[in-house]
Amino acid sequence: MTITVLPGIPAGTGELSIWPASTAPLPHGGLAVGGVSLAEIAERFETPAYVLDEAEVRGRCRTYRDAFPDAHVLYAAKAFLSRAMVRWVDEEGLGLDVCSAGELELAVTAGFPPERIVLHGNAKSPRDIEAAMRLGVGRIVIDSPSEIARIAAAVGLEGRQKVMVRVVPGVSAGGHDKIRTGTDGQKFGLSLTDGGAQHAITRILGQPQLELTGLHCHIGSQITEVKPYLVALRRMVGLMARVRDMHGTELPELDMGGGHGIAYRPGEATLDLTALARRLRAELVAGCAAAGLTVPRLLIEPGRAVVGPAGVALYRVLAVKHTGEKVFVAVDGGMSDNPRPALYGVRYAPRLIGRHSTAHPRTTTVVGRHCEAGDILAEAVELPGDIHPGDLLAVPVAGAYQLSMASGYNLVGRPAVVSVHEGTARLLVRRETLEDFRSRDIGG
Ligand code: LLP
Repeated sequence: MTITVLPGIPAGTGELSIWPASTAPLPHGGLAVGGVSLAEIAERFETPAYVLDEAEVRGRCRTYRDAFPDAHVLYAAKAFLSRAMVRWVDEEGLGLDVCSAGELELAVTAGFPPERIVLHGNAKSPRDIEAAMRLGVGRIVIDSPSEIARIAAAVGLEGRQKVMVRVVPGVSAGGHDKIRTGTDGQKFGLSLTDGGAQHAITRILGQPQLELTGLHCHIGSQITEVKPYLVALRRMVGLMARVRDMHGTELPELDMGGGHGIAYRPGEATLDLTALARRLRAELVAGCAAAGLTVPRLLIEPGRAVVGPAGVALYRVLAVKHTGEKVFVAVDGGMSDNPRPALYGVRYAPRLIGRHSTAHPRTTTVVGRHCEAGDILAEAVELPGDIHPGDLLAVPVAGAYQLSMASGYNLVGRPAVVSVHEGTARLLVRRETLEDFRSRDIGG
């Protein structure tokens, strides 16, 4: 595909600052990502469609590796997983964090080395544990006391499984109540304050089938400040020192989870990864020196910050309605492909693509097509006043926790996923069709 990129509008500033770095304006109001016109993708693959910029994903993996040269960086697959994604992450040298047999099997059957995978989950099913054993997962993060005996039994007398313990360090952070996981009173992990974590560690160390490699915490998601990580790290190092004092064991690994915040709209705060890396390392080295501990290997688990900004959602406008003071622009997707505005009140910045409009901007509410008044994709955004059915809207920063949380609501079907790279578009995941729903429905 030959495209003409307009000169003079750098993607790194202004409205395009949250778009993939490859984003380039085209003549007549078009926009290209990865060297491919978004309007052409909409034509060829239909809408709604999710576009994933391969170079942006790979670039973000490299940014992490460069910023954290001494750490193991694991991509949190829950943000988005497909076989191509597995391959990109593998080729960029990252590990993988999974939280179900499904994610684990998909990754391993796509060729990801199981020893570089960590299995999470607050309620691991028998199938999760069976898959972990059969596929030889690298580490299992123990999240509740009952898992200790279950995993040890699954390992069997001959084997040994590397495990970590998920600790709740008592630090509250994150973009919304539903994604704060660092304090007591939520379902994840074992408490530092009530002694649950210490007790579990003692029991694990007494299990010959389990090798405790370290401690894990994940304090929340969409965190834009470094400070909560430093507080959590200090407490985790404190616990490592207590483990050494009580059991004479120095744990070689410390996993600080993910949660690194990104901007969904221009001007919003993002977590400064370079500052995070530098200050985590300094805190770790200082804390360990003070406690007389050997510095453990640091692990981190970013999901959103790797894939979120690499994704763009494309929708076709189906209807425009003026009701009272409001203008509603309804598109052909909605809460079944992006439940995040409804769940967390997240605000997005959609944009008209595919044609140039000279109309004055107008405050518009972009809604989905689902049978629910809360099916709002973007509340009160400025869009050209002449938007009409047939127009295309693109929503940037759509790569994380949208498709992976997509549902079958109203049997609309989950969108196609298309990768773009150096001028070529490739279908990664085909659109879900009525035939998919019909074939699962065998009750007749
Ligand atoms: N590690 C663990 C153990 C996690 O539970 C998570 C996310 C991550 C790493 C990656 O966090 P990230 O870097 O992507 O923030 N659905 C919500 C986010 C839920 C996050 C769940 N755990 C959303 O759409 O904002």
